[in-house]
Amino acid sequence: MIKPEAAAAGHAGKILDMITGNGFRVVAFKYTRLSAEEAGTFYAVHKERPFYGELVEYMASGPIFAAILEKANAVEDFRKLIGATDPAQAAEGTIRKRFAESKAKNAVHGSDSDENAAIEGAFFFTGREQY
Ligand code: CMP
Repeated sequence: MIKPEAAAAGHAGKILDMITGNGFRVVAFKYTRLSAEEAGTFYAVHKERPFYGELVEYMASGPIFAAILEKANAVEDFRKLIGATDPAQAAEGTIRKRFAESKAKNAVHGSDSDENAAIEGAFFFTGREQY
């Protein structure tokens, strides 16, 4: 996902360019908005964390871009490309170093496993929206 603040700031094109330039193939892509209920479901794994309420409110605060990306070793390589959760810790050349505002408003989300990537992809896209 390209998160609300990065989408609103007009960074989606540059972020997508970094993604495809690093060898990821776009399987699916859309501009959409999560309701608070949908954001709560998407981030249900963080339900017990102190920042859950803030996270859900923020993720529903404006439209986002959702994508399914394909590459060998995609989960690990994408996490390298986006950088650490906290942009202050993110390495030079990463998407978060360049575009994230804070630990909460950190520009992009990446799945943390192949299993979650399949779940999160199916959350946003039907089979016929994937190529
Ligand atoms: P993301 O990769 O989407 O996965 C969980 C999200 O929770 C994370 O990016 C951040 O946007 C958010 N998050 C993680 N830690 C914190 C924190 N300490 N305070 C606020 N938001 C956080």
